[in-house]
Amino acid sequence: MTSSPPSLMRLARRAQQLQRVWPSSLNVHYLLPSDAQEKQRLELQHSLLRRTLCDGKSILPPITLGPGDKVLDSGTGSGESLRVYALRIWVISLAKEVPSSVSLTAIDIQSKIFPKICPTNVFFHHHSVTDLPGEWTDSYSLVNQRVLYAALTESQWRSALVEIHRVLAPGGWVQFIEGSEISPDTGPYTATIGSILTKLYARKGLLIDVAKRLPGMLAQGGFINIHSETRALPVGAWAGADGAELRVNLTTVCSAMRGPIFEADGFGLVSSEYEYDNLLDGLTKEWDDGPDIYEDWTVVYAQKPRV
Ligand SMILES: C[S@@+](CC[C@H](N)C(=O)[O-])C[C@H]1O[C@@H](n2cnc3c(N)ncnc32)[C@H](O)[C@@H]1O
Repeated sequence: MTSSPPSLMRLARRAQQLQRVWPSSLNVHYLLPSDAQEKQRLELQHSLLRRTLCDGKSILPPITLGPGDKVLDSGTGSGESLRVYALRIWVISLAKEVPSSVSLTAIDIQSKIFPKICPTNVFFHHHSVTDLPGEWTDSYSLVNQRVLYAALTESQWRSALVEIHRVLAPGGWVQFIEGSEISPDTGPYTATIGSILTKLYARKGLLIDVAKRLPGMLAQGGFINIHSETRALPVGAWAGADGAELRVNLTTVCSAMRGPIFEADGFGLVSSEYEYDNLLDGLTKEWDDGPDIYEDWTVVYAQKPRV
């Protein structure tokens, strides 16, 4: 690793990082902070996934929502925006696409970035998907849950599937979107970050490969009509604007995970934040130079039986 003096940009980035707060409580294993920087990243990720993975659609399973239908967005993430009705989160995008008689509920364990302004049929609540209100049983036509692979342990995934199955109306659908890790064969910087993340996920008990496991877990949980589709999305400027955006998204995630990484002393693989910044710079170059670097993203959807 080089030892040249830190640039102004890097000092500014470091100052921003120092103000970040990562969730810390007994049952919360989520690896990312909840703040304005993360809100900006989630907005970028929302439009990228919608474009590149979902062909511009909010809903992938075969369901048309009409008056009286209820939708639940689990782990909704950020919502606050200076723009009125920002279309940059899933639940607000959906609110623009369905009749206002469809009721949309969004839950998250971190409520501080819930929107202050939203359409009148959208309701935000502070709940964990592992423990939903008893009165929600058999209520929802659709449950959406996107990108919680840095949040739930195996037993929390199992509880979440039990809860989602319970709150779905008979015949209702659940859709998941999850990412994965990039192959360590890509290059030395990818291999190092891969080792750090593998150790971090293992330490927290999180499932980095949940996308592959979800179809089996859903079948065990009593769901039917299980559909899974994986796309390899290009990572890096070598692949044009979409590749560059996914690279920015992923390196921003790696940077934002430094709190829990240094809580574990860098797992003996990085000894200082300065060294970690050098690693991220190397990673950026490795991915931007490419070619042929991809991250698998998966859409899984499934139905609760009608009877
Ligand atoms: C990576 S963000 C994804 C946000 C949003 N789904 C999206 O795709 O833009 C993961 C979100 O899940 C939330 N989360 C983590 N654990 C949760 C839990 N047990 N129940 C509900 N939400 C949770 C986090 O607070 C965070 O807002």
